[in-house]
Amino acid sequence: MTKTQDPPQRARVLVARRLFDDVLEPLRQSFELHCNPDDAIASPAQLRALAADQDGLLITATERIDEALLDACPRLRVVATMTVGFDHIDVDACARRGVVVTHAPDVLTETTADFGMALLLGAARQLGDAQTYLRAGRWTRWSADLFAGSDVHGTTLGIVGMGRIGRAVARRAALGFGMRVLYHNRRPLDAALERESGASWRSLDELLQQSDHVLLALPYSDAARHVIGAPQLARMRRGATLVNIGRGGLVDEPALAAALHSGHLGAAGLDVFEGEPVPNPVLLQAPRLLITPHIASASLPTRRAMARVAVDNLLAVLRGAAPLTPVPAANA
Ligand code: DGY
Repeated sequence: MTKTQDPPQRARVLVARRLFDDVLEPLRQSFELHCNPDDAIASPAQLRALAADQDGLLITATERIDEALLDACPRLRVVATMTVGFDHIDVDACARRGVVVTHAPDVLTETTADFGMALLLGAARQLGDAQTYLRAGRWTRWSADLFAGSDVHGTTLGIVGMGRIGRAVARRAALGFGMRVLYHNRRPLDAALERESGASWRSLDELLQQSDHVLLALPYSDAARHVIGAPQLARMRRGATLVNIGRGGLVDEPALAAALHSGHLGAAGLDVFEGEPVPNPVLLQAPRLLITPHIASASLPTRRAMARVAVDNLLAVLRGAAPLTPVPAANA
């Protein structure tokens, strides 16, 4: 009698949020795929239950991967986030368990930089308040100083966080808007990258003091929490603009609101804020603040490309190959 063998078990992959069906198709063909058609955000306990018997997870910025989740997932081999930021993942805890973590750099750089400029222009020219005013039926006549904001062209932009996105903003600012560009990073860029970006390194204090507009594009870490607080806002030029396309935790929000109310800050643009998706009420009451729901990378082609990067990473790792875009090692 010949002994029949059980067919090899297909790896299981959980897709934590609703994504693009056609982009997920290669996963469906290779693995047992568990999707989330109604796009609900799982609570930590729900996510632990859903992920418990999975080999791979495709997540977004709304899923937190921590020790408790990893303890509940003994089979887990790979976590692929479709975001470039990975502050929602305990990368060290994953490494200790041999769980590979991948992210989605590069594909969103230009789209996010476009949005950085849009938010800077929109904030400096007070587009948010102007539209709210008009829609509320409050516009009765043209006036010389109605929503008269500050110029962007020909001014000085300070970029904090000169990674790929920061450099892409710098190119737009220098070439498209004739801006002088300063930047702050832990370390200055190498000479070739600096030349290509058309930007000069400054200490954070110098950058804050010398810039008409300051844009944050750095990744979040505990060390970067409230890198812009009351003392840093006080160092910024009177009438300056602050734009944040990094993570909400970079800015002390009550201090920002106070600087807008006092008139020290000319305007602010936030695509990210602490406590997403619910903004701190102090932000909603602050004048000259343009605020958007974490959409800097949200063009349809780019969001599809970000999902595709996560899919490709899952396919690679679960087939035994090296990840295509692993998260960088700490301090890299
Ligand atoms: C990213 O990719 O990190 C963006 O902020 C979207 O979450």
